[in-house]
Amino acid sequence: MKRILVTGGTGYIGSHTVVELIRGGYEVVVIDNLSNSKVEVLDRIKRIAGVRPEFRQVDLMDAEGVREVFAEWQFDAVMHFAGLKAVGESMEKPLEYYEANVAGTVNLLMVMKKFGVKRIVFSSSASVYGEPESLPIRDDARVGVGITSPYGRSKYMVEQVLGDWCMVDAEVEVTSLRYFNPIGAHESGLLGEDPNGVPNNLVPFIAQSAAGKLGVVKVFGDDYETPDGTCVRDYIHITDVVSGHLAALGKMKKGMQTYNLSTGAGKTVLEMIGIFSDVVGRELAYEVVARRVGGADVPVLYASADRASEELGWRTERTVEEAIEGVWKWQSEV
Ligand code: WQD
Repeated sequence: MKRILVTGGTGYIGSHTVVELIRGGYEVVVIDNLSNSKVEVLDRIKRIAGVRPEFRQVDLMDAEGVREVFAEWQFDAVMHFAGLKAVGESMEKPLEYYEANVAGTVNLLMVMKKFGVKRIVFSSSASVYGEPESLPIRDDARVGVGITSPYGRSKYMVEQVLGDWCMVDAEVEVTSLRYFNPIGAHESGLLGEDPNGVPNNLVPFIAQSAAGKLGVVKVFGDDYETPDGTCVRDYIHITDVVSGHLAALGKMKKGMQTYNLSTGAGKTVLEMIGIFSDVVGRELAYEVVARRVGGADVPVLYASADRASEELGWRTERTVEEAIEGVWKWQSEV
């Protein structure tokens, strides 16, 4: 049985991926520092998939802790989700984002190299494309220019580090998956986006607002060059994001591959609030406020996924509406 290390495996995307890895017949070990997730997620994974994965609470900045995990188990591959991921927050805490995302990943790669583990799927971000030259953003679009946040720059830097590892070791296999806004929850209602504290992201904030746990949704600016003045984003169902990661794991090859995981279309903030209102059955209140700190919000972002379709046989299969229905079910049960 192939054994996979999942970093950030108690987090939103990581936990959904762990379920599908177990269901796919893989043995899974999870490491996570629990800075933005809860260890109880492992029990929910067991309720869904029948197996509670081995777990070690380890921060990637604790190189000795990471080494101990690799000394305990031999891994066939690493799926790397651990990191900080809020665009707005990264504008206020850049050094913490570079430490967690870049330094943490370099620590992980140094230990992988030491133990001869040379296969990694990196959960990257379509924010590495920065200001898009054209839309939809294609797999071969320019990267690294006009990235508007330390978060996006940290993801870009990690991709550069991975590419340089491939440059000096022909045995290394890297797949970097670029996506924008994962949303939704597991069909069981047992897993979903459950950040610690007030959500930075739009969809979990709307969900908690609709559930009466938070005040009205604040719309960060409605003066953008878009159909209704609010930003457009490529919201992709979490289950489609996970199937993309599994498809990539099954087709790893030497060198570095990158793939967009995207819907090919976008929705505005107000459209998302409207869909949520339809699902909840009442008009959700919102308040338009100033744009977010430092212009981190690019007006329109969505991408095409032709390369993943052609090479991985992957396409999105679920809709934004289905994702929001799942979020509301999750919010009502969490
Ligand atoms: C979406 C839109 C906000 C909250 C995401 C992921 C990040 C990365 C990049 C993968 C923006 C607006 C938000 C709120 C609002 N993905 N908004 N009120 O910034 O697109 O970043 O894509 O790597 O991990 O977070 O996502 O959900 O924060 O914002 O008006 O309370 O909603 O301005 O236009 P973002 P988001």
